[in-house]
Amino acid sequence: MAVHRNKTEDDITAEALERFAQTPDPRLRRIMLGLVNHLHAFVKEVELTEAEWFQAIEILTEAGRMCSDKRQEFILFSDTLGVSMVVDLINHRKPDGATESTVFGPFHRLGAPELPAGGNIAPRDKTGTPTLVSGRVLDLDGQPIKGALIDVWQAQSSGLYDSQDEGLGGELHMRGRFRTDAEGCYRIRTVLPVNYPIPSDGPVGAMLRATGRHPWRPAHIHFVVSADGCEPVTTHIFDRRDEHLGSDAVFAVKDSLICDFLLHEPPGGEPHYTAEFDFYLKPAAEQRTSVLDAQQRLAALGARAAE
Ligand SMILES: [Fe+2]
Repeated sequence: MAVHRNKTEDDITAEALERFAQTPDPRLRRIMLGLVNHLHAFVKEVELTEAEWFQAIEILTEAGRMCSDKRQEFILFSDTLGVSMVVDLINHRKPDGATESTVFGPFHRLGAPELPAGGNIAPRDKTGTPTLVSGRVLDLDGQPIKGALIDVWQAQSSGLYDSQDEGLGGELHMRGRFRTDAEGCYRIRTVLPVNYPIPSDGPVGAMLRATGRHPWRPAHIHFVVSADGCEPVTTHIFDRRDEHLGSDAVFAVKDSLICDFLLHEPPGGEPHYTAEFDFYLKPAAEQRTSVLDAQQRLAALGARAAE
C-alpha cells in the first residue's frame, strides 16, 4: 500500500494564497496575498507555539478592549513597532529641502481654536516655562507663504495631553490653529515641551517592558502645516537637549526636525525660551488621501469607540 504524503505547512500557505488570488479588486488582492505570505512565513520562521499564538490573541483582544475616544492602543502598537513611520515615509516622500514628516500620533483632536499671531495655547499651564515658537512657512524656492494654516498641539508640562488629563474634564488645552502673515511668519506662545512616556498601562507597555525598551518620547511639539497648492506636512519639532532623542519609543525623530530651545533670563524678568523653526512645503502632487482626511477618519474612529 502506498504511503500517503502528509500535508505540510507550505501546502496550507499555497492553498490560502490560491484562495485569495480570486480577490476581484487588484489592490486588495495584492494586499491579502502579501499579508498571507508574510504572516505564514513569520509563523513558520519563529515556529510559533500554540501558547504563543493564544497569547497573541489575548494581546489583540486586550488592545481592542482598551480603545476608546481617548485611547488608541492599535495606533500605539503601530507606532512602537516602527510601522507608522514606514507608512508615513512611503506616503510622504519629500524632496530635499522640504520639511520632513513624522508620526501623526494618537493625540490630535479636532476643534482647536484659531488664535491670532502670538496667541497662547497654554493658558492653563501654570508650571511650564513660557516659550515662544516662531518662524516662517516657505515654498521650496524660499518664498513666504501667506495664510498657511498651522495646526499645533502639545503635551502639558505635566507630560499629559488634555485628553489624558481628567482635571480638564474634556476641555481642549495646548492646541491651536494659527495663520501666517504676509511674510509667511507665525508666532505661538506656549510652554517648554517636556518628554513624556507613551501610555504604558496596556499591552503596548507590557511589550516594551518585556523587550527591555523604555516608553519615553523626547520633548516635542506637533504640527500639521498646510497651504493652498501645497502638500500639507504632519510633523514635530524636537528639543535638541533631550536625552531620549536617540531612542524615541515611536522612532519619530529625524535630524532635520531637531530644534534649539534657547533659555533667556532677563534681569528682573521672567525666564523664558525661544525656538525658531521654518517649515518648507512642497507643491501639491495629484490628489491623494490628504492629511485632513486621515485626521477625520481618526476622529471618526474615536467617536465610534465612544458610542
Ligand atoms: Fe506627542
